[in-house]
Amino acid sequence: MSQTPSIATVLVIGANGKVGRLLVPLLIAAGYRVRAMVRDDAQVPGMRELGAEPVVGDLEGEFTHALHGCQALVFTAGSGGHTGADKTAAVDGMGAILSVDAARERDVRRFVMVSARGAHDPDRSEAIRHYLVAKSIADGYLARSGLDHTILRPGRLTDDQPTGRIRAGGDLGSGQITRGDVAATVVAALEQPRTIGKTFEILNDGEPIRVALNSI
Ligand SMILES: NC(=O)c1ccc[n+]([C@@H]2O[C@H](COP(=O)([O-])OP(=O)(O)OC[C@H]3O[C@@H](n4cnc5c(N)ncnc54)[C@H](OP(=O)(O)O)[C@@H]3O)[C@@H](O)[C@H]2O)c1
Repeated sequence: MSQTPSIATVLVIGANGKVGRLLVPLLIAAGYRVRAMVRDDAQVPGMRELGAEPVVGDLEGEFTHALHGCQALVFTAGSGGHTGADKTAAVDGMGAILSVDAARERDVRRFVMVSARGAHDPDRSEAIRHYLVAKSIADGYLARSGLDHTILRPGRLTDDQPTGRIRAGGDLGSGQITRGDVAATVVAALEQPRTIGKTFEILNDGEPIRVALNSI
């Protein structure tokens, strides 16, 4: 594994999503420049208001220009529960894989993936098997990419107030986590090199985020 260059600018793919909109201000507060990738011109002013540099791109179209000038990438895009399995495959699966390829081509070494709990065993849930398969394939592709990766697998996401406390580890069982705590865990992972090369689930309760990541 190569030495990660110091990170000044982070690209967030999925910046207009519920996690993304919480993540962007946290990254800025932590001192990063943020390039916020959105699909729609109408989302550009909102990203500027958050303090980010917006860039328009579509995982199903052209987006690799979004990586320009970045040293790290956070993938928190997803097709959402309202679309069909084809969009899940195209965005959560192939969109993530193409993001890994783009990061390698542009030498963006640090890559944090927001995946999903259960991706290690998609057969466990028939109802969302296609979703977990897409996440699993993308996670495996990233893990084999040679990039300095961290793969976070949150449980069911809620919009409750963040707690600052998580459990992090292998197969944690069912549970939930606030989107704010997922966002804070992404920032903490970027700052804790020991999370490089690791894949782990995250749920609420437990220890302060940085302490929990220290025991990974
Ligand atoms: N829901 C859960 O309980 C749960 C549990 C574990 C993990 N996760 C994962 O956590 C991540 C973040 O979740 P969230 O609640 O923040 O999701 P979200 O609110 O649905 O946000 C997803 C973002 O991805 C963007 N996106 C969709 N298709 C795209 C494309 N073709 N090109 C570029 N961007 C695209 C969306 O853009 P628009 O804003 O234009 O629609 C949206 O901003 C997702 O990967 C999700 O699968 C979710």
